[in-house]
Amino acid sequence: MAALVVSLRRVAAACVLVLAAALGAAAQLSPTFYDGSCPNLQSIVRSGMAAAVQQEPRMGASILRLFFHDCFVQGCDASVLLDDSPTITGEKNAGPNANSLRGYEVIDSIKSQVEAACPGTVSCADILALAARDGVNLLSGPTWAVQLGRRDTRTASQSAANSNLPSPSSSAAALVSAFASKGLDSRDLVALSGAHTIGSARCASFRSHVYNDSNINAGFAAKRKQICQPQSGGSDGNLAPLDALSPVKFDNGYFRNVVAQFGLLHSDQELFGAGAGVDSITAQYARNGAVFSRDFVTAMIKMGNISPLTGANGEIRGNCRKPN
Ligand code: HEM
Ligand SMILES: *[C@@H]1O[C@H](CO)[C@@H](O)[C@H](O)[C@H]1NC(C)=O
Repeated sequence: MAALVVSLRRVAAACVLVLAAALGAAAQLSPTFYDGSCPNLQSIVRSGMAAAVQQEPRMGASILRLFFHDCFVQGCDASVLLDDSPTITGEKNAGPNANSLRGYEVIDSIKSQVEAACPGTVSCADILALAARDGVNLLSGPTWAVQLGRRDTRTASQSAANSNLPSPSSSAAALVSAFASKGLDSRDLVALSGAHTIGSARCASFRSHVYNDSNINAGFAAKRKQICQPQSGGSDGNLAPLDALSPVKFDNGYFRNVVAQFGLLHSDQELFGAGAGVDSITAQYARNGAVFSRDFVTAMIKMGNISPLTGANGEIRGNCRKPN
């Protein structure tokens, strides 16, 4: 009997290996990657994020967005964290990121604590993946086991940041295709867009939707116009919550807004009523927060698997802002 159990285990282990090989590089990631080499990693990241979110709840949202903008450009390789230098044109000044992406100092601070505990061991890409998960969970969202083992790139691509990150003026069809090009399907697109249940956008990002689109609640548009002048200028940086129902709570309020035409961005409102075959998914998440939460976790893990550097590729940066 014992021999049979052992041989069944061997067969199961062999199947896992075959499956891992079939899935390619992404399958090299594992939630236990640092268990031996940096056992306190997860608690260091968690307390760093807890302090940051306590000081400013929006930071949970900002770090989540930082992870998205990392993964969509060359994969989840911490390219977004590299500063401009004489040899690097970084991504921080790309159109979708400039005057908008934030939270770099929070990652620096967590990284320095991780380096003190486990020097030269944990990548900036993995710290960002863990911090994004913790930001969501600290704002009452779900938690999950983060896949780990990514390494950091030595290069960045401002041009890829400009072309791969979707714009708020995108149509539903353009959003579906931007996500498909990263191996993410329509369900992933809608679930991940639910990240807009937390955080804020600048007037510059929602101006044309509130002034020029007709698929927006009239009273809501009038209210947003009060803080956002029709011409670009001094009001460009004025902020409004992406989910006015509950801006610092990770729930399905975003979808309830979108089905009622209270989406803040043109791209948000495209997820309902614009005819790209995603309406039923948006409506389902608006009705059922548990389904949204489950699908969001699945899609975050998929997004986190986009083209990681593993094995001998890339490096473990000492400072997230520059290659070693
Ligand atoms: C579907 C395509 C998407 C578009 C077009 C889009 C666009 C935007 C824009 C324009 C802003 C406001 C930026 C500003 O005005 O400074 C924003 C904010 C945000 N986005 Fe997205 N986004 C998309 C998907 C995602 C995804 C997949 C995530 C994460 C999984 C995400 C997370 C966030 C968060 C959390 C914020 C608020 C950040 C803060 O308050 O600092 N977005 N997004
Ligand atoms: C609205 O559309 C008109 C015509 O395309 C354009 O000239 C104007 O700049 C737009 N306004 C905003 C606030 O986007």
